[in-house]
Parts: sequence; structure tokens; C-alpha cells
Amino acid sequence: MAEWTETKGTSNLAVTAAGLRKRYADGTVALDGIGLAVSEGEIFGLLGPNGAGKSTALQILTTLLIPTAGQAQVFGLDVVRCQAAVRRVIGVALQETGVDPLLTGVEALELQARLHGARRAEALRRARELSERLQLEGFANRRIAGYSGGMRRRLDLAMGLVHRPRILFLDEPTTGLDPLSRKALWDLVRAVHAEAGTTVFLSTQYLEEADALCDRIAILRAGRIVAEDTPARLKGRMRRDVIELVPADAAHCKALLVVADGVAPGAAIDRETVRVAVADGAAAARALLAAADGAGIALAGLRVAPPTLDDVFIELTRDQGADGTVMPPRLVPDGPFGGGA
Ligand SMILES: Nc1ncnc2c1ncn2[C@@H]1O[C@H](COP(=O)(O)OP(=O)(O)OP(=O)(O)O)[C@@H](O)[C@H]1O
Ligand SMILES: [Mg+2]
Repeated sequence: MAEWTETKGTSNLAVTAAGLRKRYADGTVALDGIGLAVSEGEIFGLLGPNGAGKSTALQILTTLLIPTAGQAQVFGLDVVRCQAAVRRVIGVALQETGVDPLLTGVEALELQARLHGARRAEALRRARELSERLQLEGFANRRIAGYSGGMRRRLDLAMGLVHRPRILFLDEPTTGLDPLSRKALWDLVRAVHAEAGTTVFLSTQYLEEADALCDRIAILRAGRIVAEDTPARLKGRMRRDVIELVPADAAHCKALLVVADGVAPGAAIDRETVRVAVADGAAAARALLAAADGAGIALAGLRVAPPTLDDVFIELTRDQGADGTVMPPRLVPDGPFGGGA
């Protein structure tokens, strides 16, 4: 490995944070004391709705923002006190990037490599290698201004990888991409992770993305982590079944919702299907059938399904007040990294 790519770190934990808080100048509390512990080699996801504080957290971890309180380390390096050292071990693709659109992909990558201290020949070699790895060939010599969204996100990923970081931070890497481009980007993230063992810390609003990519997920709501676990265990933690009821006549959806809500409170409509989370699927299914029958609503289908990550997410983020005052349920114990303002 060339000297300019050499990275040093001092910890097996890729990211740690405790009591991390960010209050912006206008008084907005974007992070209200979060704790994190991400192991080296993990793909970790910060999942949350708009305004939850994802970008704020990523900007702090990547030294672009100073926290109001608390602390965070990347491979043992403090993100406030050791900014330069942190920057050497991290790769970053944030939501808003400032790549010159008049450059070609290869030029942008080459420039990035030079900024990281590579000599000209080495920089060009790395730029070509990355454009090949991230399937930018054919586009590498075109101006970035003409890139599609999917190409652009791939280039962002490549830019973050130029100096062979130990950890790659991605802020909503696939927002705005069509399903095919999204899956292609997932494959690239997986490949980067598998080939180089790079730790990945990403934020996303998509449960599907967190489920598909992440070893572990923290759900962020109004600046607080309300749950943190593997996707499978988060789903298991609901310990509930979800019953889906489809009325024979779509016009009866609202009436069916009222009936279902009477049997199991919290029913909701999702695309002409009434969904309701229950403790005991079999017993509730019988009660729901009887109630629908009693109300004269014919059913086209009834399905008892395990909860999806969506159900967990909706339950945990449901009543986020615009002012962030609603206290979320705390599923994470207040351990050394378990939050606490
Ligand atoms: N520079 C700023 N000044 C004041 N408030 C800010 C600033 N940046 C973000 N905020 C606020 O902080 C909160 C968290 O914002 P942040 O951008 O971190 O959320 P996010 O989870 O990344 O959202 P999104 O999914 O929309 O990208 C929001 O209420 C947002 O309006
Ligand atoms: Mg954001």
C-alpha cells in the first residue's frame, strides 16, 4: 500500500459516541444525547424519518460539525480534537456534495486522490481503478453534469473510497434512485465491504435498505435513538403478528377499518388493505372474521404475517412531534453507549 493511503487507528470499535448532542444556533435540538458503538467491519445503519437528525450525526462523526455536548470517536480518534487524523481514516459521501460538474468522473477522482496526497501517476491509476470497480466505465470521461442520479451516487461512493478509508460514511446513499439503481448501489456497497473489509456507516429512510444491507440498525427519532439491534431482532422484538384484511369491495375499506379497530385498536389502511398488529394472530383472526361478518363486509383475503421492519419503524416513529417534544419509548438500555443526554 502506498504511503499516502496508509491509515492508522487505535481501536477495534469503528465508532463510539456518548451523550452526543447538537443544538443549532436557532435553538433546534437535532441530537438529544445519542450513544453509538459500531464494531470494525460492520455495516451499520442509522434509520429515521426526515429531520430525525441523521445528517447532523454523520456530519459530527465526519468532523464537519462540532457537537454541543458529548463525545465521539472514530477508531479511537476524537472527532473534535483529532480532526485531521479522523479525516485520514474516513471516507464520506454526504447528502449534498460539491463536485465540480464540469469535471469528468476520472478527473474528479484524480483530483480527490491528489488532495489526499497521491502523486499524479498514482492518482490517475487509482481514479481508473475506482471507475472500473464502481462500473463508471463509459461515463468516466464524460462531464459529471451529464450524469444520471444513479451514476452520480456511484461517483460519490468512488470519491469517498479514493484514499482507501477504513470506514465509509454514506448519508442516504440511494434517496431519489429508482429501484434498479438502488439495488445496483447496494451491490456496490456490499462489494466494497466484502473486498476491503471497510466498515460502513450509513443513514437511510428506507427500511428495505436497512434490512438488505445492515448488520445492525439504530432507529433515530427526534434526535434520540429509540431502538438498536439487528434487523431480525428488531422485528422479533415486536412479538406480534400483523393481520392483513382485504375487503372484497375496495369501497368497504374504511368500514372494515372501523370494525378491525374495534377488535384490535391501532388498525390502519395501507393500499386497500387493513393492517392491524395483534398479540395472538390466530385468536384475533377468528374475532376479526366474526366482526367483519357481523358488519356484513365480505372479505377477499385475510393473512396473518410476521411484522415487517416497516411495522417496527412505524410503531417507533409514529408520534414524532414537529417540535420533537414527544418522549419516545426507550428500548435501548442506558449502558455505556446507550444514550442518556
Ligand atoms: N443548520 C441548521 N440550523 C438549524 N436547524 C437545523 C440545521 N440543520 C438541520 N437542522 C434541523 O435539525 C433537525 C435534524 O436535521 P437533519 O438534517 O440532521 O435530519 P435528517 O435526519 O438528516 O433529515 P433528512 O432525512 O431530511 O435528511 C431538523 O429539525 C432540521 O430542521
Ligand atoms: Mg439528512
